[in-house]
Amino acid sequence: MVTIASAKSFSLEIADIAPDKSISHRSVMFAMLASGTSKIENFLRAEDTLNSLEIVKNLGAKVVDDGEVIQISSEGIQEPFEILDCGNSGTGMRLFCGLLSSANGHFILTGDKYLRCRPMKRVTQPLHDIGAVIDGREDSNLAPLSIRGSSLKSFDYSSKIASAQVKSCMILAALHADGICTYTEPELSRDHTERMLRGMGAGIKVDALTTTISPIKELLSPLSIRVPADPSSAFFFAVATAITPDASIVLQGVTLNPTRIEAFKALERMGADIRYELTDDKYEPIGNIYVKYAPLKAIVVEDNISWLIDELPALSIAFACAEGTSTVKNAEELRVKESDRITTVVEGLKACGIVTTEYADGYTVTGGTLKSATIDSDGDHRIAMSFIIAGLKCGMQVSDLECINTSFPNFFELIKKITDIKFIL
Ligand code: S3P
Repeated sequence: MVTIASAKSFSLEIADIAPDKSISHRSVMFAMLASGTSKIENFLRAEDTLNSLEIVKNLGAKVVDDGEVIQISSEGIQEPFEILDCGNSGTGMRLFCGLLSSANGHFILTGDKYLRCRPMKRVTQPLHDIGAVIDGREDSNLAPLSIRGSSLKSFDYSSKIASAQVKSCMILAALHADGICTYTEPELSRDHTERMLRGMGAGIKVDALTTTISPIKELLSPLSIRVPADPSSAFFFAVATAITPDASIVLQGVTLNPTRIEAFKALERMGADIRYELTDDKYEPIGNIYVKYAPLKAIVVEDNISWLIDELPALSIAFACAEGTSTVKNAEELRVKESDRITTVVEGLKACGIVTTEYADGYTVTGGTLKSATIDSDGDHRIAMSFIIAGLKCGMQVSDLECINTSFPNFFELIKKITDIKFIL
């Protein structure tokens, strides 16, 4: 349990926001598809991504890690001796399903008690349809999953959900299918997989919502990447700034990929003063984000939900500090994240004295005066960090904090620059 004291105004520049989780997972997985040595700098050393690195080692990759740069070389995927443990990570499990479905051997993917309750049918069904041999509890919906690598047929798949995990899984499967494949999604989801694999030489074309993938005949070029800071992690500090009178912050080296900064755009729509500065463009646009406090007003969030799905809990803290009633719609995907984030956000805000209404696909939050409360994160890192940010306004106690290590190990170090915190056993 941690106690957070309310914060006074601050002016900060942060250069060490946690590296991007999505890109870190992909970098170690995609290195398995390259000939030669991939070099990954600023890899996220958090539980989720370290689990992916461990899995890659179990699949036979040679990993040299000097603490700064991780070098990975692979001679193809080897059948592992170990069960492959994805921990808390849906991204890990779903992308490995795509990578392993065509590999030679037998693979078992498992995860923690939360991940073993999350739906996997969204990847196992389209994989079954192209000939993958994959099984799991409840008719292949729940992990542990067992995969027997097999040959895969080409496909034209239209997904009903805008999910980068499903899209990436199917792109990875398509690389080893027996012909050209297409994948269409209802809204564009984050596109790191397409950018990174294209950068490695894969034949991937994107036309609006349809991605066309050519199977690879030979290994790809190795990756050489410095992972940018994670906008989903940076966003906690953007909200902290937006709700603290006279505060300002510079968040350095963040990916400015348009599919990832929609929550910052939403905060701008609420009235926050936000500016973006492009400093680099390799695989992705990268730069600094400047945020300054300004009074906030309510907004409606209903489009491009997948672009801010991870940031909605933190954005909801800004809603609670805004004038008027904010509404989130079309966000049923929130219910199958690390927790049911519609319920955890609504119940948490209610405990803090805020008026909320819950719907099947979203919720409303009426801005008011946040009151100190005790919040349990339900094992969900983004819920824990969001309510710690709320605590900057009114003081807060938050329990079940271990989960923060899945994505943002230095979170508390950075929070300490803003306010006093005390851990209670
Ligand atoms: C991710 C995709 C998103 C996101 C998750 C990371 C990825 O999930 O919520 O944190 O790296 O592909 P969905 O694809 O389920 O929307």
